[in-house]
Amino acid sequence: MNQRAKTVATEIVEAVRDVLRRNKVTFAEYRAGFMHLAKTQAAGEIPLMLDLFFNTTIVQIENESRKGSKADIQGPYFVPNVPFVDHEIAIEEEHKAMPRMVMRGKVVDMSGTPVAGAVIDVWHSTPDGRYSGIERHGNLDKKYYRGKIKTDSEGRYEVRSIIPVPYQVPNKGPTGQLLEEYMGVHSWRPAHIHYWVQAEGLRDVIRQAYFEGGDYVHDDCCEGGGDEFIVAEAYEDGVRVMEVDFQLEPAQTLV
Ligand code: DHB
Ligand code: FE
Repeated sequence: MNQRAKTVATEIVEAVRDVLRRNKVTFAEYRAGFMHLAKTQAAGEIPLMLDLFFNTTIVQIENESRKGSKADIQGPYFVPNVPFVDHEIAIEEEHKAMPRMVMRGKVVDMSGTPVAGAVIDVWHSTPDGRYSGIERHGNLDKKYYRGKIKTDSEGRYEVRSIIPVPYQVPNKGPTGQLLEEYMGVHSWRPAHIHYWVQAEGLRDVIRQAYFEGGDYVHDDCCEGGGDEFIVAEAYEDGVRVMEVDFQLEPAQTLV
């Protein structure tokens, strides 16, 4: 028997029972909830629903032990093995005229020493609020707005792209219904950029950056981020500058 699984599973069941008792949930209400979960399963939305409500909590727990840059939620749209990009991320032809941003910053270790050769995966939404390379978004074969960058000898990186827009999590299915109709909350995330930073011998970190002044920055349906992930509004020759530094702690050793 896995003692930890036993503890967590038992306490989850007890916590749910407690809510049912406190609210004197009727059999009809219980069956309605039961059917809603069955509908969520049939729509293939169990992973979406779990991540929406609990990923942030797990990241917060993880951050308690992080001494370097804090982590943020990964979200469902990371794609592995995308190509390295040089200066500019692949931008779809029809979006070439959209407002641009430059993403840049520095990767250092806990003593402040630059980390050369760190690999940073970056990915963000399309201007119509979807992600490329994702089957559910109907563009599995496209690899725009994502790429890998490597830090230079001073630990710096710099890459350009277009500015992403706020993103609405799928709200037509049972998860959206749960959010909007039953819980009375909206289904929008602020515009954001995802980063996954990895370097030899150091603990990797996944985070996001949000745009100061943007819609939903302080009202994210996924409760991602926090003030430390909001990047102050700055422009250089009319191009939005997203300066994001990372500090990596040593890789964790297994105990
Ligand atoms: C979801 C989408 C995102 O782009 C993200 O960063 C986090 C969550 C979602 O659809 O749940
Ligand atoms: Fe995202």
